Amino acid sequence: MVREMRAEDVLLVSKAEELCFTDPWSLDSIKEGVNSSLDTWLVLPVDEKIVGYCVFRIIAGEGELLRIALLPGFRGRGLAKKLMDQVVEYSRKKSVKTMFLEVRESNKIARNLYKSYGFSEESVRKNYYQNPCENAVIMWCSRI
Ligand SMILES: CC(C)(COP(=O)(O)OP(=O)(O)OC[C@H]1O[C@@H](n2cnc3c(N)ncnc32)[C@H](O)[C@@H]1OP(=O)(O)O)[C@@H](O)C(=O)NCCC(=O)NCCS
Repeated sequence: MVREMRAEDVLLVSKAEELCFTDPWSLDSIKEGVNSSLDTWLVLPVDEKIVGYCVFRIIAGEGELLRIALLPGFRGRGLAKKLMDQVVEYSRKKSVKTMFLEVRESNKIARNLYKSYGFSEESVRKNYYQNPCENAVIMWCSRI
C-alpha cells in the first residue's frame, strides 16, 4: 500500500501539502524529491488519490523525519502509523540507528505519534517556525 513517490504523484502530493500545512513546501521542492539521493518520499494511495505522504532524509547513517501528513478526512484511522512503519523499515535496511525531527510545539497529535515510535523530546528551538511563529520541539529516537 505505502510506496515510493513517483513523478506522476508530485502534483497530488503538492496539493495535499497545501491542505495540511500553513507553511507548505513549493511544488518544485517536492519535484526534486523524486530523484533525490538523500531524501525518500513515501506516499499512501487510496483509489488513485494520494491521501498521505512522508519524507525522511538520511545523512551519514542518521535519519531526519522531515514531513508526515494525512489529508484531513483520512486522519485518526492509523494511516500515519502505516507510513511510520515504512520509515522504520527503510531506515533499518539502511542501517540507520538514530533519527531526529522538529515539530511545532502545539502539534500534540504529531508529538504523540512520534513518542509512540520511541522518540523523546530533547530540546526546544524558540520561534523556529514562521506562519505562524512558533517554537519547535526537537525529538530524538536513539534506536529506530
Ligand atoms: C500528525 C498526523 C500525521 C497523524 O496522522 P493520523 O493518520 O491521524 O494518525 P494515526 O491515526 O495513525 O494515529 C497515530 C498516533 O497519533 C496520535 N494521535 C492520532 N490522533 C490523535 C488525537 N486526536 N489526539 C491525540 N493523539 C492522536 C496517537 O499517538 C496515535 O496512536 P494511537 O492510535 O496508538 O493512540 C495527522 O494528524 C496530520 O496529517 N496532521 C497534519 C500534518 C502534521 O501536522 N504533520 C506532522 C508534522 S510534519
